[in-house]
Amino acid sequence: MGVPLMNIQAQYAPLRAELDAAIGGVLDSGRFILGPNVSGLEDEVGARLGRPAVGVANGTDALVIGLQALGAGPGDEVITTAYTFYATAEAIARVGATPVFCEIDPVTYCLDPEAAAAAVTDKTVGLLPVHIFGHPADLPALRALADSKGLWMIEDAAQAFGATIGGQEIGTSGDLATISFFPTKNFPGIGDGGMVVCAHDDLAEKVRRLRFHGSKDKVVFEEVGYNSRLDDLQAAAIRVFFPHLDDWNAARRQAAAWYAESGLGEHMVLPGVGADCEHIYHLFMARHPERDAIRAALSEQQISAAVYYGIPMHLQPVFAHLGYSEGSLPVTEECAASGLALPMHPNLTREETETVTAAVATALA
Ligand SMILES: Cc1ncc(COP(=O)(O)O)c(C=O)c1O
Repeated sequence: MGVPLMNIQAQYAPLRAELDAAIGGVLDSGRFILGPNVSGLEDEVGARLGRPAVGVANGTDALVIGLQALGAGPGDEVITTAYTFYATAEAIARVGATPVFCEIDPVTYCLDPEAAAAAVTDKTVGLLPVHIFGHPADLPALRALADSKGLWMIEDAAQAFGATIGGQEIGTSGDLATISFFPTKNFPGIGDGGMVVCAHDDLAEKVRRLRFHGSKDKVVFEEVGYNSRLDDLQAAAIRVFFPHLDDWNAARRQAAAWYAESGLGEHMVLPGVGADCEHIYHLFMARHPERDAIRAALSEQQISAAVYYGIPMHLQPVFAHLGYSEGSLPVTEECAASGLALPMHPNLTREETETVTAAVATALA
């Protein structure tokens, strides 16, 4: 019996009747664009985080629109990490600004605040930390840095809804935070979807305008915006999932604990947890210099494992003009070369974690 990397169908199966009813409700209502489920979801997420939230078409647009709302553009530098999905850096470049890739913390894989501080120049306008793989970035240190230098901060929260640092939920420290409802995310939808969480109503108003062609009313157009709205069908499904998110995150944490108990740490470097942080293990990223051999051996036993961000952003061809080279970010490059995502999802069983650990041990014997 193999072990899949993720298992979306198992996660959704108990909710199938509720999903069918929610989708049927949208069909019956005929309100597909910015209907009651979008505003309902915005209210629910907003109430949880204590901030206004605006639904958009996907997590990439959330970043692009968020950056534009904060005024980022040509000539501006935005400090971020290279160990992330391309969308983070792409969004910065999309608005004409320059991503400045800084080193990560080797335990949490998130932006290192000291490296970020060292990278601030007179062109820096903001910080864009990523809560990568479900681990919160060091928000207290990064917020303090932003405040001391007069910068804004956007949290890329695509992979970590529900994670906490110092008891505070991620998504509540930045000027903005962006969410992705991509179906394999820990806070999923059943297609593309995203959200921008805003520190105050003025910013939320701007984001709302930008997602709708730069207009409040489709009559007067104030700026060049986007057609980037969260679908009501998506929002209806996400509202079915939202009440289960904390249980799903807890199940991921339990699976991570089972990996540790099964002795996986004797063979691979387990994902670390920073002080006072609650990880939600969107992905379970363990490390080993021979990760490709481990992956191949697991695959022979139908155990799925995957490499994420194996070419970090500073070494991607699209950013060659920025002048980074191999060795520019050694910690990032080491993680990118050794990281292997092992099966992780809310339905993973203790037996499956033991199966994976045994297979890793055999692969390295
Ligand atoms: C860290 C990160 N940022 C942004 C995105 C973009 O989200 P989306 O795929 O919804 O556009 C993703 C996910 O794909 C992501 O993992």
